[in-house]
Amino acid sequence: MNNNLLIINAHIITPTGNRARKGKEMNELLDIPRGTVEVTDGIITYVGSDRQKVNAGDYEVMDAKGQVLLPGFVDSHTHLVFGGYRPEEFMWRMRGDSYMSIMERGGGIVNTMKATREASFHALKRKAERYIDVMSAMGVTTVEGKSGYGLDRETELKQLKVMEAINRDPSRKADIATTFLGAHALPPEYKDREERYIDFLIDEMLPFIKENGLAENCDVFCEKGVFTVAQSRRLLTAARSMGYGIKIHADEIVSFGGAELAAELHALSADHLLHASDEGIRLMAENDVVATLLPLTAFTLREPYARGREMIDAGCAVALATDLNPGSCCSGSIPLTFALACIYMRLSVEEAITALTLNGAAAINRADSIGSIEVGKKGDFALLHAGTYYALPYYTGMNSVQCAIKGGIPVKSLTPTDTEAPRKDKELPRR
Ligand code: NIG
Ligand code: FE
Repeated sequence: MNNNLLIINAHIITPTGNRARKGKEMNELLDIPRGTVEVTDGIITYVGSDRQKVNAGDYEVMDAKGQVLLPGFVDSHTHLVFGGYRPEEFMWRMRGDSYMSIMERGGGIVNTMKATREASFHALKRKAERYIDVMSAMGVTTVEGKSGYGLDRETELKQLKVMEAINRDPSRKADIATTFLGAHALPPEYKDREERYIDFLIDEMLPFIKENGLAENCDVFCEKGVFTVAQSRRLLTAARSMGYGIKIHADEIVSFGGAELAAELHALSADHLLHASDEGIRLMAENDVVATLLPLTAFTLREPYARGREMIDAGCAVALATDLNPGSCCSGSIPLTFALACIYMRLSVEEAITALTLNGAAAINRADSIGSIEVGKKGDFALLHAGTYYALPYYTGMNSVQCAIKGGIPVKSLTPTDTEAPRKDKELPRR
């Protein structure tokens, strides 16, 4: 099949632009009730009201039958390459143990580190591809993937090479934006030698990974008991000088100055932010840091949600992502992310759509090529089996995506379509 596709009769809904949308802008979506999208060689070449394509012979034609066509979802924060699972920790948390207390007694990230060191390249790849399959069925066309479960040279590189191999596969169902998260936890070999570990990351890992094109971004778990603000600053400043985009796991467990550091360093994003301070929020808005919120993690850890509504009202660009990982959040559910963001973080559906498309793209430095349905961007879409995008949170935790379309090629969907889906949305008020 070639990558020429003509989608007709589509209810096109999309944010627009090549950068993150901030504050009130997040609510503004282009809405073409009966539109056509033309994709040529995988790139969008026309978007507009229905028109007669002169040369339809060269194009696959897809009749969207009035269903909503969105940009493919961008899940901009996941840890999708990992060995093993940690269901026992989930059960301990249900009993009342905290995430950090489990980490302190040798569980947590170091637990997955052991399993990931032991796992073969092929086992890790197969597992990551299965997650991508499931996420594609929920409309995801680009996913960010972090290393951070090796914490040694060999295994960190193994994780990054798994992602590289998936990206080289022409039949992949989603692209992976790669992030080096060597500073995810202190490996046992470096006990009480945090600064030496940061030296190792800066001197040995970052240059090699850069030279070999194995990661675009660098991230750190900046948190009480993990890496300090000063250590995070040292690592990220070095990474930035080598040309990495920088990201921070910030203010997840306690208010720690992570949002402030992200603003100071002009990071692409600060992620989690459950305990971001008022000043941190103000500074992120002022310095164009995307606030990436991960409601599934707060839900799973039974923690308060990040203050998404306040962040947008303060002028921030908010992105939403799943945080799929084997510990704090073993879920890549896009439907539940929409529901929690709208119900508990009080985002409007329009804001949540922007957060999972264009702002997610900005959080991985790809807003110029994905995240909206506009000429020149990749032909990546999520086609709903509903005529209204309100289905996204309304079908709470259930999939309203009929299929993803990747580079102009429909991806085989794992879910059946629903012909009884709600169709009208005009009488429903927007925020
Ligand atoms: O984003 N908080 C740090 N990292 C992950 C959890 C990793 C794990 O528990 O394995 C997160 O929640
Ligand atoms: Fe994470």
